[in-house]
Amino acid sequence: QCSLTGRWINDLGSNMTITSVNANGVFAGSYHTAVSATSNEIKLSPLQGSMQKSPNQKGQPTFGFTVNWSFSDSITVFTGQCFVDEYGKEVLKTMWLLRSCVENIKNDWKATRVGTNVFTRLQSQE
Ligand code: BTN
Repeated sequence: QCSLTGRWINDLGSNMTITSVNANGVFAGSYHTAVSATSNEIKLSPLQGSMQKSPNQKGQPTFGFTVNWSFSDSITVFTGQCFVDEYGKEVLKTMWLLRSCVENIKNDWKATRVGTNVFTRLQSQE
């Protein structure tokens, strides 16, 4: 069984906390990115998401969430699936789209970046 709740770190060193997933699969949390496409000072940003609750997910649910960056005018959407790997470790395999705000419609072509991130559970230091 794979659970989204808790603290995660990805391959870029970004940290994410998902506080709780409600009965409808709706969740919220916060995201601290390790990198930015802007030169702004990085700040903790809120995320809101939804997890698929369909019974044929076999404990490895699909999900999506949006990060509304508090320090830039961009938005990122992530989509992914929570897997339990061969060692019993939970891993989130995701793809993302980062939409930047551009000056005008002529610059629309360069406004969206795409990529992948792999998240693993952040072990507490206790
Ligand atoms: C911005 O640059 O305007 C906001 C920060 C974007 C960070 C991106 S989102 C996709 C990728 N995964 C991360 O953990 N950080 C970068």
